[in-house]
Amino acid sequence: MKIVSTIKELKAIREELKGSVGFVPTMGAMHNGHLSLIRQARIQNDTVIVSIFVNPTQFLPNEDYKNYPRREEADLKICTLAGVDILFMPTADEIYTKIEPEILAPKNLSYILEGSSRPGHFDGVLRVVLKLFNLTRPTNAYFGKKDAQQLYLVQNMVKTLFLNVNIVPCDIVRESDGLALSSRNIYMNEKERVQSLSLSIALKNASQAIMKGERDTKKIELIMLESLKDLRVDYAKALSRDFEIKEQITIKDTILLIAAFVGKTRLIDNLWI
Ligand code: PAJ
Repeated sequence: MKIVSTIKELKAIREELKGSVGFVPTMGAMHNGHLSLIRQARIQNDTVIVSIFVNPTQFLPNEDYKNYPRREEADLKICTLAGVDILFMPTADEIYTKIEPEILAPKNLSYILEGSSRPGHFDGVLRVVLKLFNLTRPTNAYFGKKDAQQLYLVQNMVKTLFLNVNIVPCDIVRESDGLALSSRNIYMNEKERVQSLSLSIALKNASQAIMKGERDTKKIELIMLESLKDLRVDYAKALSRDFEIKEQITIKDTILLIAAFVGKTRLIDNLWI
């Protein structure tokens, strides 16, 4: 595995690559969720590039940019064992200059749900993803359904800016008890870890009601809220897969989305119906 930290070196290596390139952008502190993306990229491409970059522009001033878990040594091992060919780990100065064109996520979508609690977050995500796509020029790029809104906005950017990359959505990887894996799960203590199960339970209860015939969006959202009653809920929504509000949900065109605080840790989870 080649470890690359400069753009100059990455560009030189990319020039030489033949065949398909699979790209997995991450912020590191890797877990089995990241690993499942890398594994899929490994199976489907000649070359696999992974980036680890804790992107400052997608964190709000009051968020955990400084304390975001950084686990370089463990990440290197995971990437080596997973058969990654190129690991790109740039510094912020390498990626950003003082004067930059602004890239803004579409307003109607980037200021709801995640964007409503984290205004500007998706501008930073799209900005860095576009830069990373330009540097790695991937055939396929892998994104987790865990960050459903991020996935949708990246797909939308690719479509509307006519980018030449195939976005591959990857299933959510969970702990055996249902908690969706996240680099932020380590912030929770034992009690909070138990409370965190309310998110996946809420999704399960809502999906069971849907399987029994419930279609009323409001009622489905209330079922989720009931299971989340011990947490500080940011949102619990049933939306169409293009993030529109519908009075009645439709099978195969619905995402149930939750964000809630367990103690100080903000968790998100979702289920595609
Ligand atoms: P990060 O949170 O490190 O996540 C990297 C990728 O792993 C994302 O596509 C995310 O959806 C996926 N992922 C995280 N947890 C997962 C899980 N439990 N199951 C499946 N996939 C999971 O998302 C980011 O980084 C950043 O915003 C980034 C796209 C790298 C831009 O900075």
